[in-house]
Amino acid sequence: MRPSDLTYFKQKGKPIAVLTAWDSLSAALAEAAGADVLLIGDSLAMVALGHATTLPVSLDQMLHHTQAVARGLTTLPANQPLLVCDLPFLSYQCGEDLAVAAAGRLLKESSAAAVKLEGAEPEVVAVIDRLVRMGIPVMGHLGLTPQAVHRLGYRRQATDAISQERLIEQACALEQKGCFSLVLEHVPSELACRVQQALTIPVIGIGAGDGCDGQVRVTADLLGLTAKQPPFSPALVDGRRLFIDALKGWVNQTRNHTPPTKGENTQTD
Ligand code: KIV
Repeated sequence: MRPSDLTYFKQKGKPIAVLTAWDSLSAALAEAAGADVLLIGDSLAMVALGHATTLPVSLDQMLHHTQAVARGLTTLPANQPLLVCDLPFLSYQCGEDLAVAAAGRLLKESSAAAVKLEGAEPEVVAVIDRLVRMGIPVMGHLGLTPQAVHRLGYRRQATDAISQERLIEQACALEQKGCFSLVLEHVPSELACRVQQALTIPVIGIGAGDGCDGQVRVTADLLGLTAKQPPFSPALVDGRRLFIDALKGWVNQTRNHTPPTKGENTQTD
């Protein structure tokens, strides 16, 4: 799968399924489930590293996890999902040169074929322009942008007319600068439909209704593994309960087992 294939999906009306992955195990599960794209999202800071926000994860850590994700894939390269890696906080906000170096490193040292970054402030748009011109495919991300949690919180974004018009303008600017797709997080579904219609690149929603060209979910949320799922991304299965019960069963079985006394041969395998 290549970034340009996603535009073809949109043209054909074929919905795009994007799942996050953070290690070889989660990558193998998401690949086996048939995801078109695996996003090594900076949500791994919270899902896999125990941080309270996405801000602390470093470029080195994102690279380390992206390499692990790539090792978890089992299909032939031509059939593998597209790997998109998030540019972490402060890897693209401190100037275009640093952003090119960070994104280039992810593509050079892992199998990621594209990066995702958040926002559409003029500085970010300039970075996207530069990355795209340097041959680095970019997925945009608007609406709830978790790297701006200290400014925006985790609430639904673009709920009034002025901010909705601004978001549509920003989405168009990202497309115009060459983003190959756009994640739209936690915005009203009518707005997501308007963005979907305004853009020729695919709009991938999370908490943005059913009118997008595809959906993205944090795999750990879907599997019910995180302690608390966001309201717009409910769990499909109570994974924590399921796994804890299975492990408890094993722990109890182990505790209830009477070890053989000296000289007694209990080997059964
Ligand atoms: O980091 C992440 O997992 C993301 C998705 C929620 C889109 O950005």
